Amino acid sequence: MKLSVIGRGIRPWEHLTLAGLRALKNADVVLGIEPDNGAWQALSQEFSLPAIKSIDFLYRDGATDSENYKAFVAFVADVCTQYENVALVVAGHPRLGVSVSQWFSSNALPADIEVEFIEGISSFDAMFNDLACDPLEKGTLVVDANRLLLFNYLLDPAVDTFIYHVSSVGNVRTDFIDCTRSNRLTWLARYLSEYFPPDKKIVLCKAANKTGDDAEYVEITLDSLVENSKQIDPGTTLFIAGEKPKQLNPKFLNQLRSSHDSAAVYC
Ligand SMILES: C[S@@+](CC[C@H](N)C(=O)[O-])C[C@H]1O[C@@H](n2cnc3c(N)ncnc32)[C@H](O)[C@@H]1O
Repeated sequence: MKLSVIGRGIRPWEHLTLAGLRALKNADVVLGIEPDNGAWQALSQEFSLPAIKSIDFLYRDGATDSENYKAFVAFVADVCTQYENVALVVAGHPRLGVSVSQWFSSNALPADIEVEFIEGISSFDAMFNDLACDPLEKGTLVVDANRLLLFNYLLDPAVDTFIYHVSSVGNVRTDFIDCTRSNRLTWLARYLSEYFPPDKKIVLCKAANKTGDDAEYVEITLDSLVENSKQIDPGTTLFIAGEKPKQLNPKFLNQLRSSHDSAAVYC
């Protein structure tokens, strides 16, 4: 028995990998979390893939995230006992913010089920492309809003920062119908204000989710984050651009300069 957890990318029509496509062709049954149904039907026809069966009915609005994940794992485990090759398609990359993937790889499934994870283009990939920033240029912090606040992670204003799950700050429930009702954004705003001035520009990011959809990148200031809560939905990430670094290691700068001076000349 084999379970292939396949990242469909943010826009499946453009982002599904060849490895994902092959695993789908080989599957006896294809399950999907948040499948993009329109694109999926077209893909199924073009590549003769099995129809995708959405398991979103297992999401219960207002249940805790872990209750929902448990239901997913139990359902998938049950399907795996009935078919040799099961594919589970998830949005983006299966290792970026997909808690069920962590559960699958930490013995939540019976030992006789082999699990593989197939990469997909993540929201992170799509955002740094849209924002035209190279994550290595200034360095990048990618962090979950709740873990940031729970563990008091240090922020560095010199690096680019992407904060995920800003639709559920201080809330362990899956409120997909109206995420604003329990989103405690004031906690996040207060935490960020320890590192950034009130007029710091921040961006609410939504990379296009469907082929032909518009991306939404809304620039606001930190002091207006809470009043902009209505602009945030479960697919929103907060981006804070890194500023010019305030410190530099002069000895290391000399090392870089001397390596430049002694570099071989080829012409
Ligand atoms: C449960 S995680 C899933 C991420 C997904 N596996 C991926 O690879 O992008 C959901 C979070 O991803 C981010 N996200 C999802 N879709 C997005 C998009 N189109 N643009 C920006 N961020 C997105 C948001 O922070 C959202 O709260």
